[in-house]
Amino acid sequence: MPRTSPLMNVMQQAARKASRRLVRDFGEIENLQVSRKGPGDFVTAADVRTDQKLRESLEQARPAIGFLTEEGEDVVGEDHTRRWIIDPIDGTANFMHGIPMFAISIALEEAGEVTAALVYAPISDEMFWAEKGQGAYLNDRRLRVAARRHMGDAMIGTGIPYLENPKNSEFLTELSAILTECAGIRRMGSAALDLAYVAAGRLDGFWHTGLSPWDIAAGILLAREAGAMVSRTDGGGDPLYKGDVLAANEAIHSRMLRLLRQARKP
Ligand code: IPD
Ligand code: CA
Ligand code: CA
Repeated sequence: MPRTSPLMNVMQQAARKASRRLVRDFGEIENLQVSRKGPGDFVTAADVRTDQKLRESLEQARPAIGFLTEEGEDVVGEDHTRRWIIDPIDGTANFMHGIPMFAISIALEEAGEVTAALVYAPISDEMFWAEKGQGAYLNDRRLRVAARRHMGDAMIGTGIPYLENPKNSEFLTELSAILTECAGIRRMGSAALDLAYVAAGRLDGFWHTGLSPWDIAAGILLAREAGAMVSRTDGGGDPLYKGDVLAANEAIHSRMLRLLRQARKP
C-alpha cells in the first residue's frame, strides 16, 4: 500500500468532497436529457460549483497557493511560485450526455514544474495520482505504461478538434496516418483520463492538439511517472503550455512521431 503524502491527501480529499455533489448532478442529467431546455445551463452550474468546491478545500488546507482553473479567476498566491492547475470537469460533453467518462483534474505546479497530479473519475471511483519521482498509482496500485512495442498491436487515443477549428483538416491527415498502422483508435472525450489511461497501460499511445494546460497538467505527470515518453506532437520539449501532446512508451512514441511528421509534410 503506497503512503500518500500530506499534500496528496489534501488533493484527494478535495476531489472526493467535490465529487459527491457532482455524482448527484450526474444522476440528474438523465432527467434533463428529455426536457426541452436540455442540460446545458445545469452542466455549466455543476462545472462552476465543482471549481468553487475544489478551491474552497484546497485554499483551506494550503492558503498560500494560487490557482489557474478553467472555470474561475486566476489567483496569484502569497507563495507566487506555486499554483493549482485545475479542470473541475474534464469531459464536459460526456457529462452532459450522461456518459460517465469524465474526471476532476488537479495538478500542483511549483516554480513552473508540475510536481503532484490527480485525475479522479468519480463514477468508476478511480483515483489516478502521482508525485514527481514517486511513481504513478491507480487507487493503491502502482502503474506502468503498456509494454507493447508494435503499432499493429497498439490502441491509440486522440481527440477531435472542433469543426470550425482550422486544424481540422490537419487532424484528419494525422488520423489517417495513425489509423492505418494501429490496432484501434479511441476518442473518449477526456484528455485528462486519456493520459491517465496511458499511465495505466490501457491506451498504448495518445496524441491531441489544441488543448489547454488544465486539460493535461495532471495527466502529463501521471503518464511520465508511469514510464511514458511525453512530448509535444512535433517531438519538442514541454507540451504543457503548447497544448499539444504525444504520450506513449518509447517504441510507440517514436513510431507515432514519425507518422505524425510524415503526415504534416507539405
Ligand atoms: C475537453 C476534453 C476533450 C478534448 C477537448 C477538451 P472539457 O475538455 O479534454 O477530450 O478533446 O479538446 O476541451 O471541455 O471537457 O473540459
Ligand atoms: Ca478540459
Ligand atoms: Ca472542463
